Amino acid sequence: MTFNPLEHRGIPLDRQVRNWSELDVEPVDADHSDPYTKCRIIAMNGIEIEALMFSHHFARTCPSMDVKRQLAEVRYIEQQQQKAVNWLLPGVSSALETTISYEQVAVDLTAWVARMEPDPYLKQAYEFGVLEDFDHLYRYSNLYEMIQHRKAERLVDELTEIIPGRPTKYHHRNPADNVREPYDRDTAEPISKLHALTIMATEQQTMNFYMNVGPEYMEPIARQLYQEIGLVEEEHVTHYESLVDPGETWWERLVNHEYNECYLYYSFMQTESDRRIKAIWELHLDMELEHLRLACELMREHDGREPEEVLAPELPEPVTFEPNKDYIRELLDTQIDLTTLGAGYVREAHERFERMQENIHGGEAPPSERVVDMHREQFGTDYRLSTEGEHPVERLRRQPAGQR
Ligand SMILES: [Fe+2]
Ligand SMILES: [Fe+2]
Ligand SMILES: [Fe+2]
Ligand SMILES: [Fe+2]
Repeated sequence: MTFNPLEHRGIPLDRQVRNWSELDVEPVDADHSDPYTKCRIIAMNGIEIEALMFSHHFARTCPSMDVKRQLAEVRYIEQQQQKAVNWLLPGVSSALETTISYEQVAVDLTAWVARMEPDPYLKQAYEFGVLEDFDHLYRYSNLYEMIQHRKAERLVDELTEIIPGRPTKYHHRNPADNVREPYDRDTAEPISKLHALTIMATEQQTMNFYMNVGPEYMEPIARQLYQEIGLVEEEHVTHYESLVDPGETWWERLVNHEYNECYLYYSFMQTESDRRIKAIWELHLDMELEHLRLACELMREHDGREPEEVLAPELPEPVTFEPNKDYIRELLDTQIDLTTLGAGYVREAHERFERMQENIHGGEAPPSERVVDMHREQFGTDYRLSTEGEHPVERLRRQPAGQR
């Protein structure tokens, strides 16, 4: 069945404001909810934050009072949607537990996007990035067992493996090497534009989250690990945002944003296992259909173009949270040694990379290494959740005690 959001009518904007009791959503159960329901909540929070921050940036460059007012009206609804979505997260979870879910989102959403992406250059960008967030999941999970004495498998539920990825210490590149070439807005497939927006948005909320929760920990190793991985997320935002064609007009970008919101709510409505949460995705889709209609009107008026020229004729296949274990193991096997040089990828450490590594590490082991060393000291071994056999990369397999 196909769905073209341009052909469906949503809820009129003046009926979208929610009152306090409608905003007071009941959170999902911290221990018994589907981990992928939490992932969908986190992903949609990232999308809503992008929607409203984009709208603020647009408003700041927009001279028309009428357009500014319309942006403010829609943006207020995006804010309410963000509140309704993010407040579904259980208050009893610690910031570190939410962090582990954030990295699970980064792993399984980016892997899914990489699998579906038709453009080889863009696909490579996702494959490169996913091995890094995969390693973050491993580092944070070691921290989690050390400071909260719990195992991350109760959060990710064996849907996602927790084993070393490209080691975090190698993620620190010269910032200039994080800038990729953009797609071409005239020739890129509509799905490629949606993928880029989605991953940019979710990485950005991860970056923001670590910036804010990192200093709330007392344990020095936790504070340090959040600093280190927070800096890598800055690199990831640079990496993914540079994929988007900067030549898109503001009107075109607005239409793409609203269309992407429709696409994701529709996707999650199709795949949600929790009926109560599914009803929220459905309600928000009905709101987004109206946002999209209003954005399309602005585009026709100010850009002199039809939105159909830039949008897909129907929604692509639904974005799905599902295990990507074999795919990630294949990437571990073939791409673990990659780093970036200019807008491309190389296997050898180059001079600019080496210089950055020396500058940031200052000859010491970074927090991402020390957290695993400390875990080994305390528990005799590192924390892993391996469901598909030994690590595909020999040097990253568990060493028998005494041989390290
Ligand atoms: Fe929204
Ligand atoms: Fe990450
Ligand atoms: Fe990331
Ligand atoms: Fe929207």
